[in-house]
Amino acid sequence: MIPTRIPLAGVIGSPVAHSRSPRLFAHWLRTYGLPGHYIPMDIASDKLADCLRRLPDLGFVGVNITLPYKERAMEIADLISDRATLIGAANTLIFRTDGRIHADNTDGYGFIENLRQGAPDWNPRIGAATVFGAGGAARAVIASLLDVGVPEIRLTNRTRIRADKLRADFGNRVQVYDWVKAGNIVEGSSTIINTTSLGMTGKPPFRVPLDALKPNMVVTDIVYSPLKTHLLEQAALAGCTVIDGLGMLVHQAVPGFERWFGQRPKVDSATRNAVML
Ligand code: ATR
Repeated sequence: MIPTRIPLAGVIGSPVAHSRSPRLFAHWLRTYGLPGHYIPMDIASDKLADCLRRLPDLGFVGVNITLPYKERAMEIADLISDRATLIGAANTLIFRTDGRIHADNTDGYGFIENLRQGAPDWNPRIGAATVFGAGGAARAVIASLLDVGVPEIRLTNRTRIRADKLRADFGNRVQVYDWVKAGNIVEGSSTIINTTSLGMTGKPPFRVPLDALKPNMVVTDIVYSPLKTHLLEQAALAGCTVIDGLGMLVHQAVPGFERWFGQRPKVDSATRNAVML
C-alpha cells in the first residue's frame, strides 16, 4: 500500500555534512522496509527558528539537532522534556500534530543504553564514576549517571570553573578535582568516562595517567573516531570492560526513529557497520 504521506525527518546543524545520522536512519528504514527519508540540513543561525516552524508543512515529523544548535533549539521549542531541561540542551525535536514543537534530549539515554549493552552486568550503584570533561556531552553523561543511581561522580576538567558549575547544577554527588590530578581519581572508580575531545582524530592526545586502571572497571569514551582511542586501548590492556563511543551515537537515535517511523529499531553489529562505512 502506498502511504498517503511519506514521513520526513533529518538532522539540523552547521556544519552537518560530517553527521553519521543520515546513514544510520537510512540503514534502519531499509532494514525495516519503512517509507521515509532522513535528510541532513545545514541551516544558518538566523534562519533556524523560521525553518523549524516551516518543516511540519513540508512533511517533517521531527528532527535531530546537533552542534551548534542544541541550546537554541530549547528556546524555540514550545514544550521541553524533563531530561532536556536537566541537561540544558535538546538533540531531538518532535513536531506534534497540534503544531507545537516538543524538545527532548536522548544523549544521556543513549549513553546509558550503550553501557548496558556493552557491559550487561554493569551495576551503576556499585561505586564511583570518574568523568573527564565538563562540556555539553558531560552534562548529558552526568545527568544520566545520577539518574541510574551512581553514588559519586568524580569530575575533572581542564577549565575547573566549568566542572564547578556542573557540581552547582547537579549537587554534591558530584565532586570536582583538579585536572592536574586527573590520573589520581581513577583509582577505586567503577566506571571511567572520557567526555572530552582529547584523543579524537585531529585533536590533542589523551594524556591522563592511566596506571590505576583495574580489570573490574568499565571504561568508555564518547570519542568514536578513532573507534579504539588511546584510553580504550590502555583500558583493554589493563583488562577492563571497554565500550566504544559509536554505540552512544547509535542508541541516542533510537527514540527519535521509533517516534517518527513507528518501529523501535535494533542496535546490532549491522547497525554499527552501517554507521562506520
Ligand atoms: P562537547 O559539547 O562536545 O562536550 P565542549 O563543550 O567544547 O564540547 O567540551 C569539550 C570538552 O573537552 C571540555 O571538557 C574541554 O575542556 P575545557 O572545558 O577546559 O575547554 C575538553 N578539552 C578540549 N580540548 C582539551 C585539551 N586540549 N585539554 C584538556 N581538555 C580539553
